[in-house]
Amino acid sequence: MSLPAHGGTLINRFDSTVLTNEISHEIPLDLIGISDLELIGNGAYSPLTGFLGKDDYEHVVSSMRLKNGAVWSIPITLPISKLSAKYLQIGDVAKLIWENEVYGIIKIEDIYTPNKLAEAQFVYGTTDHEHPGVAKLYSRGDVYIGGEVTVTKQLNRNDFSEHYLTPIETREKFAALNWKKIVGFQTRNPVHRAHEYIQKSALEIVDGLFLNPLVGETKSDDIPADVRMKSYKVLLDNYYPANRVFLAVFPAAMRYAGPREAIFHAIVRKNYGCTHFIVGRDHAGVGNYYGTYDAQKIFQRFTADDLGINLLFFENSFYCSKCENMGSTKTCPHSSEHHITLSGTKVREMLKNGEIPPTAFSRKEVVEVLIEGIREAASISVE
Ligand code: ADX
Repeated sequence: MSLPAHGGTLINRFDSTVLTNEISHEIPLDLIGISDLELIGNGAYSPLTGFLGKDDYEHVVSSMRLKNGAVWSIPITLPISKLSAKYLQIGDVAKLIWENEVYGIIKIEDIYTPNKLAEAQFVYGTTDHEHPGVAKLYSRGDVYIGGEVTVTKQLNRNDFSEHYLTPIETREKFAALNWKKIVGFQTRNPVHRAHEYIQKSALEIVDGLFLNPLVGETKSDDIPADVRMKSYKVLLDNYYPANRVFLAVFPAAMRYAGPREAIFHAIVRKNYGCTHFIVGRDHAGVGNYYGTYDAQKIFQRFTADDLGINLLFFENSFYCSKCENMGSTKTCPHSSEHHITLSGTKVREMLKNGEIPPTAFSRKEVVEVLIEGIREAASISVE
């Protein structure tokens, strides 16, 4: 029997037979909106069946739970402009539009004005415009629409389409592989040695690793998803046993909400069929907004039953030149001068300049793919 989804039932809100021609109301989606619609539709966001109404929204913002008590830490909302809101009423049905095409419908159950400062403070822990998640929140529409959705059309994927799987499909895949214990791994970065170390440490105690990189909207200086996908493949081909790892993408937007997003990331991976989830240092963090282990500590607020997925917490990991090995302060007795660590910003800077980060930090094969990808992207943007 497969693992229950969050809230008990894996949601499926896809129905391509719904006729939309007669519906006159239209709501345009932004990049976050279209990815959220897709993930509500395919059950990755179970138990959500639509964009949050006011009550659920307020519960999620203030107490990290839906009004029925289920843990939910990131508000999944459908923002529109004040002007567009004037033409909509509760009870209306509206088409959801992305790049001039209809991808679904929403039955409008709620129209409300959020307190964005409170949302920023509660969800991101700051109201600072410099925080990329907060800046994005402020830039979206000022009125939220709540209501159940039906997805009527799948997005066409040109790039790495074989790695887009629904939770039903990943669950089938894990069953076919006969994996009982599956650890999910979230990343918005290339997989460096520290990531590899914690993934493989986890692999020692579970059956399979679900490498599930986030490929939705990220901030502009993060490494583009297509380049990262090439780097994951070259790493897996060379350094991981093929029958112990499964790679599929997570098409959500990155919120950079640190601790709150770690909870969200864990719950979504449970929906994809994972029994375990890795949270390392500064998970989903950005700049210095969160403490190194805040995204681990936040889980203390919930019971095992609340979450329904096992958390594997890892210390900050590094290569130690004295141990000649990867480790953390839990396993390495040497002082930090022997530890090779680089910040994400420093690595991106080195890669942009064609400089090769030490192999103790990142595998040579990975670095080569990244440098080539970044060079190509730069030449395209100059042309
Ligand atoms: S993010 O999606 O969480 O922002 P990132 O790629 O930085 O992506 O991290 C992926 C996962 O690896 C997270 O759980 C993070 O905590 C963990 N992680 C990243 N670097 C390290 C490290 N050096 N030591 C331990 N955990 C790490």
